[in-house]
Amino acid sequence: MKTIWITGGSSGIGFATAEIFLKNNWRVIISSSNIQKLEDAKKRMNNKVSTNNLYILKCDISLENEVKKIISKIENDIAKIDIALLNAAAYSPNKNQNFDIANYKLLLDVNLKGTLYCINSLKDFMQGRDNIIAIVSSPIGYRGWPTSGAYGMTKAAQLNLAESLYFDFKKLNINVKVINPGFIDTEATKLNSFKMPFLKSADFAAEKIYSGLVNKKNFEIFFPFFIVFIVKIMRILPYKIYFYIWKRLGNF
Ligand SMILES: NC(=O)c1ccc[n+]([C@@H]2O[C@H](COP(=O)([O-])OP(=O)(O)OC[C@H]3O[C@@H](n4cnc5c(N)ncnc54)[C@H](OP(=O)(O)O)[C@@H]3O)[C@@H](O)[C@H]2O)c1
Repeated sequence: MKTIWITGGSSGIGFATAEIFLKNNWRVIISSSNIQKLEDAKKRMNNKVSTNNLYILKCDISLENEVKKIISKIENDIAKIDIALLNAAAYSPNKNQNFDIANYKLLLDVNLKGTLYCINSLKDFMQGRDNIIAIVSSPIGYRGWPTSGAYGMTKAAQLNLAESLYFDFKKLNINVKVINPGFIDTEATKLNSFKMPFLKSADFAAEKIYSGLVNKKNFEIFFPFFIVFIVKIMRILPYKIYFYIWKRLGNF
């Protein structure tokens, strides 16, 4: 039986992905910063799929020592990790376009430093095993979007990090992948006040992630195709055109 560890598995994309891996007979470990949310998640999952192979472990990824402890607990007491899905993130849209340093620090701590702490401990255990570390970033990381400075900054850094580690971790025999979902209906995106184009369910995202991780060799897993493809085009536009499009879209 293979094992996946999913950070941020108590809700949204992480929760739905845990469910689909369980259905496919994987051993699944979900973690998040809140044990109560994890217990509730397990109960909700229990209604749909057998949770005999589900483990829940509290792990606040912004706490380096906690991350180290949990990863060695999984590896030593539960099972060797075949896939680490680094999905946990904090999100807070900046509706008023005010520069809020506390929000920048929070998102840096969770989304970026947290991801780094996980990778740092995972690499010691996973090297030489030809397994996968997958980082859930976002197409927002391709370019700077209005009202998304803090979140976008962390996602851009994750994307750049994944690209670098794709090369560097080859010598450790660890496969690094990045996952870039379009708009997915979760607790996070409920905070958005704008209409999200091509909004998809967390179950849709989970299916794409499952098949991308298990069946395909691609570095990037992205979905839904059309919206992410448009953002990819925006990525290569000259600044003048890029800024003009945003001006037309939202008077930014
Ligand atoms: N939804 C979208 O449209 C979308 C699009 C592109 C990318 N993404 C990315 O997809 C991933 C999942 O997002 P989601 O939409 O599913 O959001 P979500 O429902 O809010 O889930 C976020 C998860 O992260 C956990 N988390 C937050 N802070 C944490 C911390 N300090 N330590 C450990 N876990 C923590 C949360 O659990 P606790 O609160 O219990 O800690 C929760 O399980 C994120 O990386 C997000 O950036 C989402």
